[in-house]
Amino acid sequence: MVYPEEIVEEIRQKSDIVDVISSYVKIQKKGSSHFGLCPFHNEKSPSFSVSQVKQMYYCFGCGVGGNVFTFVMQYENYTFQEAVKFLAQRAGVELPEMEYNDDMRKKENRRQQLLQANKDAATFYFYQLRQEHGKIGYEYLRKRELSEETIKKFGVGYAPLSSNGLVAFLRSKGHSDDLILEAGLGSHDERQGIYDKFYNRVMFPIQDINHRVIGFGGRVLGDGSPKYLNTMETPVFDKSRNLYGLNFARTSRKNNVILCEGYMDVIALHQAGFIQAVAALGTSFTPGQANLIRRYSEEVLICFDSDEAGKKAALRAIQILKEVELSAKVILLKPYKDPDEFIKNLGEKAFQERIDHAENSFFFEISLLQEAYDLKDPEDKTKFHKEIAKKLCGFTVDLERDNYLEAIAEKYQIGFENLRKLVQGYAAATGGVAPVNRPKSGMLSKKTSEEMAEDAKKRNQRLLLTWLSEEPQLYHRIKKYIGFEDFTNPLYQKVAEKLFEGIEESTIHPAAIISMFADEGEQKEVAALFNTKLEDLETDQDKQKAFHHIVINVKTASFEESSRKLGSDVMALNKVIQGKKALEELQKTQILID
Ligand code: UTP
Ligand code: MN
Repeated sequence: MVYPEEIVEEIRQKSDIVDVISSYVKIQKKGSSHFGLCPFHNEKSPSFSVSQVKQMYYCFGCGVGGNVFTFVMQYENYTFQEAVKFLAQRAGVELPEMEYNDDMRKKENRRQQLLQANKDAATFYFYQLRQEHGKIGYEYLRKRELSEETIKKFGVGYAPLSSNGLVAFLRSKGHSDDLILEAGLGSHDERQGIYDKFYNRVMFPIQDINHRVIGFGGRVLGDGSPKYLNTMETPVFDKSRNLYGLNFARTSRKNNVILCEGYMDVIALHQAGFIQAVAALGTSFTPGQANLIRRYSEEVLICFDSDEAGKKAALRAIQILKEVELSAKVILLKPYKDPDEFIKNLGEKAFQERIDHAENSFFFEISLLQEAYDLKDPEDKTKFHKEIAKKLCGFTVDLERDNYLEAIAEKYQIGFENLRKLVQGYAAATGGVAPVNRPKSGMLSKKTSEEMAEDAKKRNQRLLLTWLSEEPQLYHRIKKYIGFEDFTNPLYQKVAEKLFEGIEESTIHPAAIISMFADEGEQKEVAALFNTKLEDLETDQDKQKAFHHIVINVKTASFEESSRKLGSDVMALNKVIQGKKALEELQKTQILID
């Protein structure tokens, strides 16, 4: 739900940014700001600044910045609404309740009870692991080289051989039999009544992103079947929308997520310092899970078992990740079976190297494809090349397809032109895309001069907004010439409108303006906007000149834009004439900025 602006602003005012950030980052007062090591990039000397006056933070190293909401969003990976909730709680501000009807309230109560039962069960299993009869479980975990700390972090426990301990415990906690069944913690038959679903297993509690236990995976001790027994779907356990380990991985501050197959893989990776590892929950990877990851990271490194099943699952995962536009790469584990085994044998450093050299998912697909062909046989080889060409048609962006075409041609020593013709042939036959003839040495990534002019225009508008937010009194000197309509970029225009309004009423607060935008992308842009670096201007004279320039540039751009749009509209014509007059006057005037 979207909270009213006044409440958001009240929460912001009650959440002092220095207080909030201090609880995450060590910062020290230096001059008018606080400084510390930036939590969003690696650095040795502090360039992360927090301003109590502005109620904003900004990193001169990596350029992140914003207000107290954006900080919590970035640090905790929260959405704006989640950040509002979090800070409201911290500041003791009551948020308006969702309107619940009876039915919804009942459902919500039931969910709470199910969560409580799961939490109690986790406590029970965790305790059993430390009992005499739990030794077998504890020793199993130690044999697999889990440290005491890791066992605690993941809350790993043990379900004893006797099969009614948990049910009795849950009943003693006041949980009803039908709740125990609905939570998937008990089973039922005519003869025994209700009994423990899990026994003789080490138990991995599965947590949602808020660290609430929602279900379990239990690994049998010895060779029993199934090897892993998982809680069935329940109202609180949606296997397609949760991931094992994500509650830790989401604040890992690594720029990728490692997707592995099993609980033990995740645990082994976390123990080795790869705290960005997650796994699906006993089912194959789903689009819902891909979307979940997308909230936290743009790159997924698939790290599945190196056996046939693992490779097939990797291909499926690549497809799913592509669909939600996440970048996918594959970590190759050869000669080991899974990450757990790999790390035990070769250690963390070697695994980090595999991460650094993770294979592009398209190359991975092609290399699997190749296994089916004998490249020494010309006929097979031709078939292989044809298959590659078909796959290349899957890239709809010309540049991307051509880049892959070139890379694959080189990797498999296929003539570039030959492969290109094949691709063209398939594209034509299937009505698909045909590769363009590409200039051999085009500078395709360079910006056009138009784009550069646009950038300069935006930059001037940003500079002016930053300057005015820092020295609001200057607004009164220029308002004769410049209004919010002069900001040609729509987002900047909205910001200028709010900023100028605030200055007029002497209530300006750039930090408040940020939270008026609910869209995260916009918030980020607005935050950056107020932190556009002003050149370090030494003398007052330089400052004076710079300010004058910026104002003129903004006005000129606005004037040009309105002239361009001019039709037969008299109002618009008037505006242009006024704009021209203002501009001429501005060029002659000196705006004092003392
Ligand atoms: P694996 O059999 O690869 O598990 O299954 P693992 O993590 O390597 O286990 P160890 O190392 O032998 O203990 C991978 C995942 O597939 C699911 C589980 O989620 C497991 O973590 N799985 C596997 C099941 O749900 N049921 C099974 O019977 C087996
Ligand atoms: Mn495995």
